[in-house]
Amino acid sequence: MIIAVDGPAASGKGTIARALAKRYGLPHLDTGLLYRAVAATVLREELDPAREADAVAACGFPDALLDDPWLRTDGVGQAASIVSAHPLVRAALLQRQRRFAAQPGGAILDGRDIGTVIAPQADVKLFVKATPRIRAQRRHAELQRRGFDVTFDRVLADIRARDERDAKRASAPMKPADDATLLDTSFLSIEAAVQRAIALVEERTAAK
Ligand code: DC
Repeated sequence: MIIAVDGPAASGKGTIARALAKRYGLPHLDTGLLYRAVAATVLREELDPAREADAVAACGFPDALLDDPWLRTDGVGQAASIVSAHPLVRAALLQRQRRFAAQPGGAILDGRDIGTVIAPQADVKLFVKATPRIRAQRRHAELQRRGFDVTFDRVLADIRARDERDAKRASAPMKPADDATLLDTSFLSIEAAVQRAIALVEERTAAK
């Protein structure tokens, strides 16, 4: 069974994908981390995320980098959104994601283009969404908890900028696949969102 979980930043897709992976005993790949690793490599070498050649040169990052907490910061997230718009960067990371999806026992991948480009054959496709304000509230609360001093307006502006860039790029833009099921987590607790996702997986797989 292949499960594709797509959606914008702070929609809850990562939490849902991890919970589904545990529930069904499937390996999980957070594909955003790959773009974050490219971005972090570009930033560390003081290169320009907007230059395709700089970003492509960073696609050979070492696997150990994927465990670096720095990758999870908002600065790296914004740069990841910039490098991910380059078609050659997407092409460089494609096979790795497809190989992960093709594991014999199945897999869960979360990202922006899993249901549309990486695994269009997925058995279940969820597109997780929530309003920009609610996603910004979640992200802001999380940043405050971790001791970062940032205003709500700044977080909201960052979320909107990232949505705009991820959805408007020409190459594999963020959008629900035609056969994806939308899951709006705006007014759901984490537990309720996970329960709903499990119910949707059961529904989709029972219908096959
Ligand atoms: O899911 P995330 O916030 O870690 O992703 C960081 C950026 O990477 C996101 O803004 C766009 C890009 N990305 C992508 O283009 N395609 C994916 N499948 C996953 C992430």
